[in-house]
Amino acid sequence: MTALPRTMTAIEIRTPGGPDVLTPTERPTPRPAPGELLIEANAAGVNRPDILQRQGGYPPPKGASDIPGLEVAGRVAALGDGVTNFQVGDAVCALLAGGGYAEYAAVPALQCLKVPKGLGMVEAAAIPEAFFTVWTNVFERGALAPRETFLVHGGTSGIGTTAIQLAHAFGARVFATAGGPEKCKACRDLGADVAIDYRKEDFVQIVSDRTEGRGVDLILDMVGGDYVARNLKCLSLEGRLVQIAFLKGSKVEIDLLPVMLKRQLLTGSTLRPRTPAQKGAIAAALRTRVWPLLEARTVKPVIFRTFPLAEAAAAHRLMETSAHIGKIVLTVR
Ligand SMILES: NC(=O)c1ccc[n+]([C@@H]2O[C@H](COP(=O)([O-])OP(=O)(O)OC[C@H]3O[C@@H](n4cnc5c(N)ncnc54)[C@H](OP(=O)(O)O)[C@@H]3O)[C@@H](O)[C@H]2O)c1
Repeated sequence: MTALPRTMTAIEIRTPGGPDVLTPTERPTPRPAPGELLIEANAAGVNRPDILQRQGGYPPPKGASDIPGLEVAGRVAALGDGVTNFQVGDAVCALLAGGGYAEYAAVPALQCLKVPKGLGMVEAAAIPEAFFTVWTNVFERGALAPRETFLVHGGTSGIGTTAIQLAHAFGARVFATAGGPEKCKACRDLGADVAIDYRKEDFVQIVSDRTEGRGVDLILDMVGGDYVARNLKCLSLEGRLVQIAFLKGSKVEIDLLPVMLKRQLLTGSTLRPRTPAQKGAIAAALRTRVWPLLEARTVKPVIFRTFPLAEAAAAHRLMETSAHIGKIVLTVR
C-alpha cells in the first residue's frame, strides 16, 4: 500500500453565500475509522442539496465533514478495522454524509458499492445520491408496483433522470414534468411515456386526460408550494405522494378532505441523516435489484458536464441556472 499523504486538497465553504465561497483548501487526509473505507476519489457528484448547504440552509449532520459533497467514486486507499468485504484498490462508489469535494473521503463500508462493470468513475460518482434517494422513496416508501402510473416532477434533475429510468425499467407508466421542449424530449428519451412542459401545460389536466380521470398512483415531488394541492388533485384512489424537497416552499394551505376520502398517503423523507445501517440496507437492495440494470446499460447515469474539483464554484453556478439535464460531476484526479 502506498503511504497516504498527510494533507489533501478539498473545497470548503468559506462562509455561507454564493458559488464563490467555495474555496480550494488543504485539509488533513482523513483516516478510516473502524468499519470505514478511505476512498482516493476520482470524481465527485454535485447535487442540489450542496447548494443549500453552501447557502447555509442545510448543515451537515452531527459528526459529518463540513466539506460539501454527498457522493464519490474512486479506489479504496485504506481499510478501517473490521472491513472484510472490500480490498485496497477496489473501484467503488459511495454515498457520503459530507466530504465529497476532496481528494480523499472516509465512509462507512456499508454505504459503498463496487463500481458497476463497464462504467467509468465519472458515471459511478453520479450514481449514489440519486439512486439511493429514488430507490428508498419510489420503491420502498412509495411502493411503486409494475403497471402502476408514476409522476415525477423535475424530470431532468439528477433525481428525475434516475426516477424516470428506474420506474420505466420496473414496468411503471411514467409521467414527468420539465421546463421546456428540450427537457421534455430528454424525459421521453429516458423512458417517460408522457412528458409535460409545465411552463406551457397544466400537469393536473394532462394527467387527468391521459389517465381517463383516474390519476396517478405515485408522485415523487421536489417542488412543494402550490404543487402540493395540485399533486393531490391528480393522485388516484389509494395514491401516494412522496415529498423529497420543497423548491417552492414547504408551508401551504390545503384541503385534506380528499386525502381521507380517496385513502391517500402523504409522506416524505431525507436520506442524509439516516444511520449507516439504514443506508446499508438501501445499498444492499440497489446491489441486487439495480446494479444488474446498470451493468446491462438498461439504466445509466446521465452526465451533463464535468468540471475539475478546483472549479466547483463554476459547477454550482451551472446547477443554479437549471440549464442542465442530468448530473454535474467534479473530476478529482
Ligand atoms: N430528500 C432527499 O433525501 C433528497 C436527496 C437528494 C436530493 N433531494 C432534492 O431533490 C431535488 C433534486 O435534486 P438534484 O440534485 O437532482 O437537482 P438538480 O439536478 O439541480 O435539478 C433540479 C431541477 O428542478 C427543477 N425545478 C423545478 N422547480 C424549481 C425551482 N423552484 N427552483 C429550482 N429548480 C426547480 C429544475 O428543472 P426545470 O427546468 O425543469 O424547472 C431543476 O433543474 C432537490 O430539491 C434536492 O434538494 C432530496
